[in-house]
Amino acid sequence: MTGPATIVEPARAKLNLALHVRARRADGYHELETLFAFVAFGDELRVRDAAFPGFAVTGPFAGPLVAEGNNLVTRAAEAFAARFGPLPPVAIELVKRLPVASGIGGGSADAAATLRALARRTGVTSPDALAEIAADLGSDVPACLLGRTAIGRGRGERLEPVAGLEGAPVLLVNPGVAVATRDVFARWDGADRGPLPVGDAAVIASEGRNDLAAPARAVAPVIGDVLDRLAEHPGVLLARMSGSGATCFALCRDADARTRAAAAIRAAQPGWWCLETILA
Ligand code: C5P
Repeated sequence: MTGPATIVEPARAKLNLALHVRARRADGYHELETLFAFVAFGDELRVRDAAFPGFAVTGPFAGPLVAEGNNLVTRAAEAFAARFGPLPPVAIELVKRLPVASGIGGGSADAAATLRALARRTGVTSPDALAEIAADLGSDVPACLLGRTAIGRGRGERLEPVAGLEGAPVLLVNPGVAVATRDVFARWDGADRGPLPVGDAAVIASEGRNDLAAPARAVAPVIGDVLDRLAEHPGVLLARMSGSGATCFALCRDADARTRAAAAIRAAQPGWWCLETILA
């Protein structure tokens, strides 16, 4: 006898290839122009029918989340049920493979994967309603629901897909310091340094900036070391922080350059999290 089918949804890590902060808003958020992209690695969300509703976190980065009652996954499930009606009893498992509070959208990707999985389970097909729920859950959740390279405006929820950089080799490095997004935005100096460059993803990434890098380095100076270490490797085309940090990424000329940079960083800093992957 086989058990109930499990719905599996990937929750890929998000990168901000560029992140321009343009203005403080009256509602406490900031007006952004950002280039979202996704990598071929992330958390995983599993949903299967069960006698009773349940939620479990497993995987190498489960630790910090297990004690936390108010996870974005359970909030996403509650918001889905509030909009579309009570859920059948399902057991939800989050396989946590991404470091938490690290600027690569793990929690946002988990929430988006929850919405996708529950939509599949219940047969809901309302992209606009799902996008609305996503925006209520967090600024990065709509981008994670879309799951492809896109410019984000507003809080990040107004999305415009762009082409470019598909399959580009990328190295992600996190020094193991959790950084609170709110604290980093609060330290932004208020200077508008201008809009995103115009062009495809490669142009925007190479000519763009991350305006949160300086305030994040004030919160966690080790971010400067990560960026320096990434940038010093031949074959690294671009080294930049993602989101509000502390994860930084390097776009590499080819897979060999990525492997060499990763090996050197692992040898020098065995405690840092290092992921070799590609842009999706
Ligand atoms: O939307 P989300 O809950 O993910 O945002 C977390 C925090 O990041 C907000 O409370 C706010 O302090 C900051 N933020 C911001 N402007 C944005 C997105 C996030 O100030 N566009």
